[in-house]
Amino acid sequence: MSAAYRVLRDASLRTRNTFGVDARAARLIEIADANALPDIAAAEFGDGAPMVLGGGSNLLFAGDPAGTVIALTARQVIVVSDDGDNVVIRADAGVEWHALVMSTLKQGYRGLENLALIPGTVGAAPIQNIGAYGVEVCDRIHAVEAFEHGVGLSRLDREDCRFAYRDSLFKREPDRYVVTAVEFSLSRNAAPHVEYAGVRDELAAMGVDGVPDAAQVAEAVIRLRRRKLPDPAVIGNAGSFFKNPIVPRAQAETLQAEHAALPMFRGDSDATRKLSAAWLIDACGWKGHRDGDAGISDKHALVLVNHGNASGMQLLDLAQRVAESVQKRFGVALEPEPRVVGAKW
Ligand code: EPU
Repeated sequence: MSAAYRVLRDASLRTRNTFGVDARAARLIEIADANALPDIAAAEFGDGAPMVLGGGSNLLFAGDPAGTVIALTARQVIVVSDDGDNVVIRADAGVEWHALVMSTLKQGYRGLENLALIPGTVGAAPIQNIGAYGVEVCDRIHAVEAFEHGVGLSRLDREDCRFAYRDSLFKREPDRYVVTAVEFSLSRNAAPHVEYAGVRDELAAMGVDGVPDAAQVAEAVIRLRRRKLPDPAVIGNAGSFFKNPIVPRAQAETLQAEHAALPMFRGDSDATRKLSAAWLIDACGWKGHRDGDAGISDKHALVLVNHGNASGMQLLDLAQRVAESVQKRFGVALEPEPRVVGAKW
């Protein structure tokens, strides 16, 4: 072993997942130097790809992870290029996401403000292509650095990452890559994105007239999230537990004829529509529901919550019953947004 990494045995993961589920890792390797990954892989990984743990904000431990778990701890942020307007910054995977957003804004770089207060790390952001209030992180990604098992360290341009709604190459092939750092394209002069009605209303409530600056947009987003989403530091959760389902346009139109209030948006093409999973779940009466310590948030129907000591299996069981009831009532399949570890969805 060297300063590049350390191995912990039978490590508790309770404080390393935002659901606060009491899972354990037989072997947890903390890696401080991502450049040493090829050597560490040869020495420590064996045959199977290890599970990569970031901020633990987008996974549900329905059981203990099989095999080795790794966590990248490097937290450096550097400016790669700066032409006076456009800036490329590079952040290590272990940097806390919200801290990065706030530090870029402080330096006058715009682009990440709509993504303020999302839990998790920089390394996890491209995997599920985090998004909120009209912006997805892929809109700001310049390149992703990763270790590819069996190949080595590589750098993928944005186009190579195959980003889609809450999806990417890294999510589709979880055993292939370990994201080690992300480069972001930001700008000192970019126009703010305020097309999301909730953000505009919040800015108005803050008394902001005219074009807001990036810090004001971030503040509006932070206020919205604090009001609408439960704080994982207070009650265990992983944000939206379900993706908004994308269905054929004809199916969406039939549903809307029966349920005029069902919110829907353009899907990935004009032939599809994205439906509001929160509305569907709410309509089935689940908001605020609680079975022991497993529950559905009373603030937002899309958020599965752990009121204290729910096990991962209890949370998964509740989520599956929610999905079944939506399937039965609306004929729409819901899929989890977080990664479910240790059990099948
Ligand atoms: N709604 C309900 N009941 C609720 C909550 C919402 O009926 O309890 C309806 C409302 O009509 C509302 C609509 O659902 O207008 C949409 O709600 P919201 O604006 O909160 O957005 P969302 O589609 O539920 C998505 C993301 C969030 C992101 C928000 C804002 C997904 C799976 N979720 O939620 O992301 O913050 O938009 O952009 O795409 C996350 O991924 O963890 C996450 C929180």
